[in-house]
Amino acid sequence: MPTTGFTTINGVLHADQVPLPAIAAAVGTPAYVYCANTVRDRFRRLDDAFAGVPHHIHFAVKANSNLHMLSLLRALGAGVDIVSGGELFRALEAGFGGRDVVFSGVGKTVAEIEQALRAGVALINVESEAELVAIDHVAGGLGLTAPIAIRVNPEVTVETPHAYIKTGEKGQKFGIPRDDVARLIAMIATLPHVELRGLGMHLGSQISNADPLRDALPRLLAAIAHARAKGHPVTYMDVGGGLSVPYEPNETSADLDDYARLVRAAALETGLTLLLEPGRYLVAESGVLLTEVLYRKHAAGKDFVVTDAGMNDLIRPALYQAYHAIEVVRHTAGALTADVVGPICESGDFFAKARVLPDVQAGALLAIRTAGAYGFTMASNYNSRPRPVEVLVDGERFAVAGAREQFDDLVRLERAPLHWRTA
Ligand code: LLP
Repeated sequence: MPTTGFTTINGVLHADQVPLPAIAAAVGTPAYVYCANTVRDRFRRLDDAFAGVPHHIHFAVKANSNLHMLSLLRALGAGVDIVSGGELFRALEAGFGGRDVVFSGVGKTVAEIEQALRAGVALINVESEAELVAIDHVAGGLGLTAPIAIRVNPEVTVETPHAYIKTGEKGQKFGIPRDDVARLIAMIATLPHVELRGLGMHLGSQISNADPLRDALPRLLAAIAHARAKGHPVTYMDVGGGLSVPYEPNETSADLDDYARLVRAAALETGLTLLLEPGRYLVAESGVLLTEVLYRKHAAGKDFVVTDAGMNDLIRPALYQAYHAIEVVRHTAGALTADVVGPICESGDFFAKARVLPDVQAGALLAIRTAGAYGFTMASNYNSRPRPVEVLVDGERFAVAGAREQFDDLVRLERAPLHWRTA
């Protein structure tokens, strides 16, 4: 199994060579801690798996949009997959150029389309007929031609750990249903300000076997062949993201070789440039949420471990019943079966139920593992809690990559006196 960068040295959990207690002492908890070397490792593995096939890896910014994480990925040669004007802004701030950007997402506003076209993005993925018309209109207004791709919904059966993270099935809001693709291709030919440069799909997230891909690729290839037969200048084939990572101790990660074998073959058959949009695969294992135990509690025959992190900091367990491994940072004797819960006033505020842990007491540090993707980016200020600090570790060094929010940040935008208006 590839390294995650988190190892126990002399009974203390380290991120690379940095002991996690040193980070907690320096920046407090809760804190997201990311290992740069793990991100580098995953990027290289994926990149190497596609050696010999023209390809670009576009990191799905929604998984971790920290500017320093984006810069790290840019230095490795990644592009980005974005889904909002805010993500485009972040990508440009991190030094990406428009040509490094693929714009996905099911509801792009006119303002976002305009922003993307002005930035010169490589592709805008079209998700509906109405959106196609809007893109053509905005591009016309700017005197530009919009490079577009059709996001095909291949309508295959997708197994994911939670229904909320599948997208490539029939009846989902995502993409153009495969039966409508030919009509859309015909329509594109009639629109003066768009150019069909690619076709793509995204099947879902945390997909652990190759079956959906095996079913979906021929459908994508058929759509590509049709578009080319109609004379469109197709240069890209985008297979989306979705590669899984192991969350549970004995879980095996996605078989990258299997995945690459299928996708490589399809890409080589088309001769097109392959685009990949991984989020989780590149960053999930690189991160932990470091939290301190506030209290032990015994109630109704159960044990609870109450932490200073809550569901506002990491919502995946509450939202998807997602499993995250939890490790004590300093070796602790004894055993305990407990619910690990946060301080938020919601019964959904838990990180684990009936989890076997060492006998941790107040003051102990815990590392909630595999939190580098969809952790901080899904954090909120619920219960008026400032969001955690983000720390990047590189070998023996660590640095604050995103400062902890302060109380003032919570009310800054509300301070202005009410300025009443009438319609
Ligand atoms: N491309 C598109 C168009 C997407 O919608 C997504 C994820 C990705 C790429 C990246 O997928 P990945 O490689 O990370 O699986 N919040 C959920 C995951 C939602 C994913 C949404 N779309 C979670 O915490 O599991």
